[in-house]
Amino acid sequence: MATNRRYDYVVLGSGIAGLTFALNVAEKGSVALITKKNRADSNTNYAQGGIACVTSDEDTFDLHVRDTLECGAGLCREDVVRGIVEEGPARIRELIKLGMSFSERENGRAHELDLGKEGGHSKRRILHAKDVTGREIETALLTALALHPNVELFENHAAIDLITRRKLGFSTENRCLGVYVLDVESGQVETFAAGHVLLATGGCGKVYLYTTNPSIATGDGVAMAYRAGVPVANMEFIQFHPTCLFHPKAQSFLISEAVRGEGGILRNGAGRAFMDEVHPLKSLAPRDIVARAIDAEIKKTGAECVYLDITHQSREFLQKRFPAIYAKCLECGIDMALQPIPVVPSAHYQCGGVVTAPDGRTELRGLWAVGEVACTGLHGANRLASNSLLEALVVAHRAAEAVKEEKAPPRQKNIPQWESGSAQDPDELVVIYHNWREIRQLMWDYVGIVRTTKRLQRAASRLRSLSSEVQDYYWNYKITCDLVELRNLVLVASLIVDCALSRHESRGLHFTLDYPELDESHPPSDTVLRPG
Ligand code: SIN
Repeated sequence: MATNRRYDYVVLGSGIAGLTFALNVAEKGSVALITKKNRADSNTNYAQGGIACVTSDEDTFDLHVRDTLECGAGLCREDVVRGIVEEGPARIRELIKLGMSFSERENGRAHELDLGKEGGHSKRRILHAKDVTGREIETALLTALALHPNVELFENHAAIDLITRRKLGFSTENRCLGVYVLDVESGQVETFAAGHVLLATGGCGKVYLYTTNPSIATGDGVAMAYRAGVPVANMEFIQFHPTCLFHPKAQSFLISEAVRGEGGILRNGAGRAFMDEVHPLKSLAPRDIVARAIDAEIKKTGAECVYLDITHQSREFLQKRFPAIYAKCLECGIDMALQPIPVVPSAHYQCGGVVTAPDGRTELRGLWAVGEVACTGLHGANRLASNSLLEALVVAHRAAEAVKEEKAPPRQKNIPQWESGSAQDPDELVVIYHNWREIRQLMWDYVGIVRTTKRLQRAASRLRSLSSEVQDYYWNYKITCDLVELRNLVLVASLIVDCALSRHESRGLHFTLDYPELDESHPPSDTVLRPG
């Protein structure tokens, strides 16, 4: 029997954005915190680098704003950048109060925050907990949340679609009324009605064959919002992290940019430090430049990977600063104190997303989006390293304050239960796995670091037919979590391609051989897709 549930707030996703929001609104009302896998399965949990925030006397808000704008290649919204940068320290203090402990170092007799450096930052400003920052933040937030009686956690629950007044055919002003959610274990679809729904579902790295993201990153929030009629923007700006560990035992394992921040040098197979000829910042150049240079080096030499050499640092330093990376490398037979680490670029971060105001509000009343799923204008055409956790923290706090201010919406009656109709049990699971693999391979081959119009068109045409196959399957068979994800992946892949095809220039993370320069004939603008 399907269940109908009702909460004041429904939060989809249990990363830093979802948890921060849930913790803040729980004082005002009931919260359902819904996650596809278990509570700690989020992109946040895998974040090694840290949070960029101005905390040292040698740094200024102006410098952080300038670095962010430079990286964003003309598409950041300066007011949004400044607001987030300036609000950062207050939110960090709250996080520390909750129990988060960042790495410190000795300075004479005192202890101070140990600030890391990453590509594109002119100062050391990355707060980190060794190389497991995300995991530590998750632990602190989950511990705080576990004590809250107003929060109910639903693990192994996959959101399928948002419920809106328009979709239900009501003539009153459109509004998000809740969400249909699959209980993955029972196979039942439950109705979660809510006054406000927060999308904190992370990004879409899994749309690519190679990614640093965990398996949950299937673009669910963007896909659900778009299907609900909410515009998305700048999906062409997919950030490829230059250094994912290249080893059969290490799928998706990131080698943090902080390793280059501590002097790591990128070399090709012959030992040449090829970044020296590419950019004045050498191996610590902005990520898009490094990823493209590695891609070119791999294509030129026919090698499978390049190498990151940090052997000039002592074993003691590496073990202390990068314990997780050190251990993972050793598990793969690589002693990073003696040998360079084999690395390749892979999909890492979605800079565009659901269009939101600086407080996470979307165009659809009652629907909010925070974190990687959202496009606030902070990242522009390229995200500055470690700005994402900062954005999630600040915007989730703002969204929580904003919803608490709003008058509770009237309870909507007559929300129908999910209708399975005559759907049968899926008979050919191979269709799902085949299509999933095909999407990821074609996105990697045709919509990767370096693009061309021809390849994008090829991808668009193949995605159209994959999309109709997936839709067919969706309507005829009982829903499973794999099918929910595949349906979202194919839509998000198409949104990336559509955005990429409509940008006739190379800017930030979008590089195409057909338009290799910036288009300076008019002011830079976002690529906004509005559902028809
Ligand atoms: C890293 O540690 O290199 C990732 C940091 C980020 O993506 O912001």
